[in-house]
Amino acid sequence: MNPTEPSSEPSIASFLRGLPKAELHLHIEGTLEPEMVFALAAKHDVTLAYASVDALRRAYDFHDLQSFLDLYYAGADVLRDEEDFYAMTSAYLRRARADGVVHVEIFFDPQTHTERGIGIGTVINGIHRALADGERDLGISHRLILCFLRHLSEAAAEATLDLALPFADRVAGVGLDSSEAGHPPSKFERVFARAHRLGFARVAHAGEEGPADYITEALDLLQVSRIDHGVRCDEDPQLLARLARERVPLTVCPLSNTKLKVYQQMEQHNLRRLLEQGLCVTINSDDPAYFGGYLVDNYLAVQRALDLSREQLVQLAKNSFEASWLDAASKQRWITAVDNYAARTSAA
Ligand code: ADE
Ligand code: ZN
Repeated sequence: MNPTEPSSEPSIASFLRGLPKAELHLHIEGTLEPEMVFALAAKHDVTLAYASVDALRRAYDFHDLQSFLDLYYAGADVLRDEEDFYAMTSAYLRRARADGVVHVEIFFDPQTHTERGIGIGTVINGIHRALADGERDLGISHRLILCFLRHLSEAAAEATLDLALPFADRVAGVGLDSSEAGHPPSKFERVFARAHRLGFARVAHAGEEGPADYITEALDLLQVSRIDHGVRCDEDPQLLARLARERVPLTVCPLSNTKLKVYQQMEQHNLRRLLEQGLCVTINSDDPAYFGGYLVDNYLAVQRALDLSREQLVQLAKNSFEASWLDAASKQRWITAVDNYAARTSAA
């Protein structure tokens, strides 16, 4: 290689950082880095089960979804006051900005906090204030999604929705997360129907560890506008055809999938095949503090493992806006911005 020429690796990374992107599958509690866990533990006089930041980070070695969730819920215990939720959300937004993220639709898990006696207003106000400041200071637009924990009952989800109603102006939609197997979308049909009547948009995790049937249930019973993960859709050819025909977005999280052993290796990931079959696939980071990478790290990991072309990377960025809850004019504006960026950088 000519030594004056940059290697292709850094140029792909800088191309990806400059590419306007939306992030649509991000658990804000999953952005809590070990350093912040320790700082908040010291602030609130909480004793942690790990001696150091490094020891905690070394524990991030998962064999499935549940082994991750156990640590994730334990980590969230250091979030105690509104300032903590503000600091966590602000840190994520600054990191996202460095990755060229211009719009975020983020999840929070109110039950993880209300079960510990933290008021839902403390949670929502802290996150919302950081999102509003992020829009003003960093130019990142946002939507907030309240997730119900599916290992808990539907009655608990109904009670959580009631608690959130005074803050409804800050919450765009509801979602469904936590332990998937054995907790099908049908368990939450009534609370999703009520959320629908109240005007909330809807999404659900489905087909991460659970079967393809859960994706069909989420679409037909919960009336979701997109599927979080959804990678197991390829076990059902009719469902695959439907997802392509209806352009149902999938918010895929590649580093999460390999960390949680949905795929043993990134080379086995079906993202490229799904994209080539016409599905509206998007790339997201899920719980970046736990899975070893933020948004551009996820793009880079699949680009390398699956040898994605520049055109495919551009398509993924456009899909992220198509799949978002932005209004039609804003979607079009960002899709045009992606096209203009791609044209400008290919000429360079
Ligand atoms: N909560 C946080 N991350 C999650 C994931 N990947 N699946 C289900 N629930 C989650
Ligand atoms: Zn998730």
